Amino acid sequence: MALPDWSTIHALKPASLKQLFDKDPARLAALSLDVAGIHFDWSKTHLTGEAVQAFAALAESMGLAAKRDALFAGEAINVTEGRAVEHTAERGEGSPDSVARARGFQARMRALIDAIEAEALGPVRHILHIGIGGSALGPELLVDALGRDADRYDVAVVSNVDGAALEEALDRFDPQATLIAIASKTFTTTETLLNAESALAWLSGNGVEDPYGRVVALTAAPDKAVEWGIDETRVLPFAESVGGRYSLWSSIGFPAALALGWDAFEEMLEGAAEMDRHFRLTPLARNAPALAAFADLYYTQALGCETRATFAYDERLRLLPSYLQQLEMESNGKRVTADGEPVTWPTAPITWGGVGTDAQHAVFQLLHQGTRLVPVEFVGVIEPGHAQGDLHHRQLLLNMFAQGAALMAGKEHQDLARAYPGDRPSSTLLLSDLDPRTLGALLAFYEQRTFVNAVLLGINPFDQFGVELGKEMARAAEHGGDFDASTTDLIQRAFG
Ligand code: F6P
Repeated sequence: MALPDWSTIHALKPASLKQLFDKDPARLAALSLDVAGIHFDWSKTHLTGEAVQAFAALAESMGLAAKRDALFAGEAINVTEGRAVEHTAERGEGSPDSVARARGFQARMRALIDAIEAEALGPVRHILHIGIGGSALGPELLVDALGRDADRYDVAVVSNVDGAALEEALDRFDPQATLIAIASKTFTTTETLLNAESALAWLSGNGVEDPYGRVVALTAAPDKAVEWGIDETRVLPFAESVGGRYSLWSSIGFPAALALGWDAFEEMLEGAAEMDRHFRLTPLARNAPALAAFADLYYTQALGCETRATFAYDERLRLLPSYLQQLEMESNGKRVTADGEPVTWPTAPITWGGVGTDAQHAVFQLLHQGTRLVPVEFVGVIEPGHAQGDLHHRQLLLNMFAQGAALMAGKEHQDLARAYPGDRPSSTLLLSDLDPRTLGALLAFYEQRTFVNAVLLGINPFDQFGVELGKEMARAAEHGGDFDASTTDLIQRAFG
């Protein structure tokens, strides 16, 4: 397999952002574009025409076009696990067989949702969605972002094995009107299964006659769900080839489809498909996921940036940074190439972020004056998500724009403590509205950007072996495993 040659990227010596703007009046037009209701602006990054060309050449040498085709064709591009990667088939973009299979599973999900709405499972007001990682972060983001005015169901997503998380949900739910959705691709995740057992005990302890009759499973391992006690008619399967952190488009999105309505769920899939088509068919110099990945790689490879931060200037997107953390860090936090050779270049930076304007009053000091360079991404929405009057939204968005401008412009001062170096990069994503279609496109954009990053880094973004050792040792600890002195002491202190 080809290895990335970073020499042309390392040799790029772009001028300061201010000079780049001064020199090239067409810069904004060249580095901004509109796709699927999202305006993207990379003009305040150090990307230049020359840099984009260098990255396009690198993409060619790493076989990006062929790998992109292989992704959409359902080839086994997850090489370490020998399987296809087919989350795009969930939104209609994939091999005909995989799209047909996904449609079949969706029809099944829709039929169950219709039955729930018709109260075939008894009265349902509360949805307790139990899952962790990719089985929680995506659906929770969807419901939090789009479900604020939806009053048909009250949804709680419980992921942590800490009983306090489950208790918080149970305290506000009526057991007689609660439906439990157990979301687990593998149906083996210990945290999820323990939370599920406790939730079932809560139902029976509160007089629900047939607690298992109130449970739905969302899984790629339907046999295991049935073995666990869930009737086959309430098991909503999805394909093994849909990765956990890419699974919100499948039956894992069930609480969103139920709370927001089936039409909204379908619109979200359509928005994602629009972004997929853009990614598949647009030359790299005008391709949103590719340009975003080029900027990411410029900062990690050429300038040694170790983190990148996303700030959502919209309360409805407050869960976006944690969703992105799993997507990017679990996908691209790797130390070997897809062939298993050690990499000698940095892979994924640490993804972090928060919500504007809150973050401005907490962490932006470091962004403006710290010694580390952090590429920042701002995400805002033109249509407000509330009825509190224009002043709020105007201030919110103007703050976001001002932060990008301030990071770039900097400010001289004879007292260095009061000076801002400036020339600090940011990109901006401005959504016309936060509707299902645009959110679908946004999340597909992030997925495809992660994919482009991985291809150029020469790594496999679709496995996650790094999470296994800790799980193994936690299991060993249950049986009094043989640990180092510090760990043994800590276990002893906690449990005697
Ligand atoms: O441990 C990491 C992980 O496997 C993630 O990749 C996944 O999203 C999460 O755990 C939950 O797994 P499952 O859906 O199989 O319960």
